[in-house]
Amino acid sequence: MVERLILGQILAFSGDPRALGVESVRHETRGGVLLRDGVIAELGDGAALRAAHPLAEVVDHGDALILPGFIDAHVHYPQTAIIASWGKRLIDWLNTYTFPEEARFGDADYAADVAGRYLDLILSNGTTTVASYCTIHPASVEAFFGAARARGMRALAGKTCMDRNAPDALRDTAQSAYDDSRALLQRWHGVDRLSYVITPRFSPTSTQAQLEALGALWAEHPDCLMQTHLSEQVDEIAWVRELYPAARDYLDTYEAHGLLGARGLYGHAIHLEPREIDRLAEVGAAVVHCPTSNTFIGSGLFDMGLADRTRVGLATDTGGGSSFSMLRTMAAAYEVAQLRGTALHPAELLWRATGGSAEALHLGRCIGRLAEGFDADLCVLDLASTPAIAQRATRAEDIWEALFPTIMMADDRAIAQVYVAGAPVRPA
Ligand code: GUN
Ligand code: ZN
Repeated sequence: MVERLILGQILAFSGDPRALGVESVRHETRGGVLLRDGVIAELGDGAALRAAHPLAEVVDHGDALILPGFIDAHVHYPQTAIIASWGKRLIDWLNTYTFPEEARFGDADYAADVAGRYLDLILSNGTTTVASYCTIHPASVEAFFGAARARGMRALAGKTCMDRNAPDALRDTAQSAYDDSRALLQRWHGVDRLSYVITPRFSPTSTQAQLEALGALWAEHPDCLMQTHLSEQVDEIAWVRELYPAARDYLDTYEAHGLLGARGLYGHAIHLEPREIDRLAEVGAAVVHCPTSNTFIGSGLFDMGLADRTRVGLATDTGGGSSFSMLRTMAAAYEVAQLRGTALHPAELLWRATGGSAEALHLGRCIGRLAEGFDADLCVLDLASTPAIAQRATRAEDIWEALFPTIMMADDRAIAQVYVAGAPVRPA
């Protein structure tokens, strides 16, 4: 049994600092985390752990900060190659850039190439778990799960279902969406660290028959998550109103077809009606904040106050989002909240990118925190990764002030190491 003891600063959350207060977060300047069999066996004072485990292999990260790996709760891995495409808002952006690229994923080799490239990019940015949309092609799901499995990663994904308002090459049917999703779910859900997510893209690209079929599949497999988009742009909402004249609001288009529940993940959720917020809170659904996407495609300013009502995850929304980095995403969340008149504490930003996203994905008992028994998926952050950040961090009076310049200014140069199930991703 190989034990690895990694040393550095540690920040251990016991839960959401928004509710529990920043004082609830434990900070050790000379901390340590003992990894055994892919999980966190112990954590605490580094010297004490070293004395208690003299045979453990020691990796000393110095002053770097050991954190849970980041968790990105909403991405589209097939959009990797079209990230940062200029000049469009949501519907035009989908038609101009996204759909032509997604049409390529029926080719298993191309899908495998992008899936591997995507996962390597996020690992180099400190992200160890994602929930991804694939394309309508089962091959795109096979490629993604295959690549995640080869890297030992915990990952969630599903076939994106669309049977209208998309190019011919990107349309399935209500029946084939049900059949293909079910076959993929049976093949992949619960294999190693992988979970299948039922994935209707959004109400405009599904007929009522398709939403109903996927609602039925979810009822048959209630342990699966379901992911979709909700109220991202005002034009989109107006279109949904035309397509679903009987619906009370956008959320109702899902609810009426069995697609509202505690294991539902609703991406964006910016322009919500009071009834929609009440219903999301009543059922305990999760919403996912995608701040770089919301500014990049011009969608709007998410209200982080929703976190007082229901679970809120954080996500890049690659490639509508303009980054693969959860550091950049935390910075954007901070800026969006500032534009709404609220300054989010660094503890809350970090929580959303780790434990908050884990809770949104119903994985809050195994990832997203440094705690005994949790998966040893870790990210080690250099808090002085550039001269600009270093000179600001030297003035810091506590760990939050030391961390904040890295949140606001750092990129992948700040990622000193990443551990997946206890194993370092980069050579030590
Ligand atoms: N709504 C429906 N599909 C998408 C997508 O791929 N990206 C974003 N940002 N919004 C969507
Ligand atoms: Zn999305």
